Amino acid sequence: MTEKFDVKLEGKIFLPDPSLKENVRMGDYELAYNEFMRDPEAYWGKVAEEFTWISKWDKVCEWEHPYARWFVNSKLNITQNCLDRHVHNGKKNKVAIIWVGDDGEEKVLTYRQLYREVMRFANGLKSLGVKKGDAVCIYMPLVPEQIIVALACARIGAIHSIVFAGFGTQALNSRIRDSNAKIVVTADATIRRGKRVELKAIVDEAVVNAPSVEKIVVLRRMKPPMELYSEIEVDYNDVLKDVSECEAEVMDAEDPLFILYTSGTTGPAKGIVHTCAGYMVGAYYTTQNVFDLRDNDVFWCTADPGWITGHSYIIYGPLLAGGTILITESTPDHPDPGVWWNIIDDFDVTIFYTAPTAIRMFMRMGEEWPQKYDLSSLRILGSVGEPLNPEAFEWYYRVIGKERCPVVDTWWQTETGMHMITTLPGQPMKPGFVGRPLPGVVADVVDKNGDPVPPEKGGFLVIKEPWPSMMRTVHNNDERYCQYWNTIGKYYTAGDLAVKDDDGYIMILGRSDDVLIVAGHNIGSAELESALVSNEAVAEAAVIGKPDYLKGEIIKAFVILRKGHSPSAKLKSELIYHVRMSLGPIAMPSEIEFVDSLPKTRSGKIMRRVLRAKELGMDPGDVSTLEE
Ligand code: WTA
Repeated sequence: MTEKFDVKLEGKIFLPDPSLKENVRMGDYELAYNEFMRDPEAYWGKVAEEFTWISKWDKVCEWEHPYARWFVNSKLNITQNCLDRHVHNGKKNKVAIIWVGDDGEEKVLTYRQLYREVMRFANGLKSLGVKKGDAVCIYMPLVPEQIIVALACARIGAIHSIVFAGFGTQALNSRIRDSNAKIVVTADATIRRGKRVELKAIVDEAVVNAPSVEKIVVLRRMKPPMELYSEIEVDYNDVLKDVSECEAEVMDAEDPLFILYTSGTTGPAKGIVHTCAGYMVGAYYTTQNVFDLRDNDVFWCTADPGWITGHSYIIYGPLLAGGTILITESTPDHPDPGVWWNIIDDFDVTIFYTAPTAIRMFMRMGEEWPQKYDLSSLRILGSVGEPLNPEAFEWYYRVIGKERCPVVDTWWQTETGMHMITTLPGQPMKPGFVGRPLPGVVADVVDKNGDPVPPEKGGFLVIKEPWPSMMRTVHNNDERYCQYWNTIGKYYTAGDLAVKDDDGYIMILGRSDDVLIVAGHNIGSAELESALVSNEAVAEAAVIGKPDYLKGEIIKAFVILRKGHSPSAKLKSELIYHVRMSLGPIAMPSEIEFVDSLPKTRSGKIMRRVLRAKELGMDPGDVSTLEE
């Protein structure tokens, strides 16, 4: 890990419209934070009171480092709070989901319709033999069914494991195997920029050597419908049963709700496990307060439910709050760079939540595109996934928000389940800084011993106290879970480097480990390297992230070839294609360099830091452990 270092902090402050503070739910940050600090359990208990419970908790939190239990012994089903509660309380005909297809096709589901579809699929899953505690892998495009299937799993207590449809065969196979999924729900294809992209074909390969899979459910969207061959394949519509009520499975607070895989430094992706009650409270609390979600809002989060952002701020948070969400399968630049602004204009989107990489892409395409559309419905702009650089912040604030909408940058992780650090609407905004810990969160920047570092000294970002939506374990690897809480003092180590200013605003400087963040997506160097080495031409590989204006980082791979293979441009393309097929397009290296050796420690670990420094012409720092 990196040693202490100084960061010179200066920059602008944007003061929000003073009326905003009074008009949003959490306009007084200090007041809320103090209320939390006075009695954290009472604070979270009050949030939880807003839900329907089958039976309530004995205690809000039981903490025995590093294990937490929240809303101890309570019983609930999250879908009763996402669906039944709204259907029975006057929101039956309120729009839950607006879907826009790649070709502009539209679908709208009211809460009643969504409820019915979830019941039908939940009953269908039961008829396929799925029971409480079974894992279901969802590998689907961004269509309403993707959300329906996830909620149907939650209804019957099955654990969903959503895998982003941009992942390739090897990534999907390892996730199916690790989660022991009994069912894979997929679609024939997704549509990207007017073109059909096969999904089912990837599933076919990914289920080889995945003996846990009993059935593959296929949503057939294309004409003519693709043939289903083997006995284990079933059509989505044949799984749907009558709309009879599917009783909500009684779940304990700490029963798992879902597994979501995220890339780590070493080894395969980690299956982050979230549980029912705490996750529900965290996702809801942040949706309500960070986005100030109201009854007449139209909330568009541009992520895919295959990422944690989609879990918490497409599916669970907004539906728990009874909001209207907009989702789209469309890409931001097809058929032209105005499509997304057109959607905001068309549907009067009020809250827009996207990633810095998208904002930088829009900047490059020019202001004329957003200017063609009426964006006056917008109220709040959000950002997530990687640092929002000041230039992108200002563009977003000025060109999209017309200096009227607060920009809430949100720092959090798959592991945290909910927003942790942000600038709440109504608070002064400092471009480059994500903001302060949310009321409910105790975060700090510390040195490697866990001692707080003064402002302007860089250090490690840690969370000092448990929070409701924290992950409970890493599936099949509890040891890895414990590491998060035992690396720096007894704190939760986020793996990010950060710095604070005098007001307690936190700036995220990047990862402290070998996880790459490419266009806002986490990609583990180990996963990439093992994908490369799985090609017969490759003996060894090391991967680094290189700074890139648009994507934040791009992937560069250093490759040692096996005997009998020689470097060529053709081999480079082959290797890039190989990674694309095994891990997916998001993990494609931008550069490949053939080398004869790699810098290693005496114990044989690749020193990516040294490679990176050499590549960028920087000082490699301490190289005393280098082999030669
Ligand atoms: C990075 C995504 C700077 C960070 C919700 C973190 C950010 C990792 C921000 C988690 C932000 C996320 N500013 N960096 N606002 N949000 N990150 O698990 O490095 O996909 O550790 O969760 O993304 O990525 P994950």
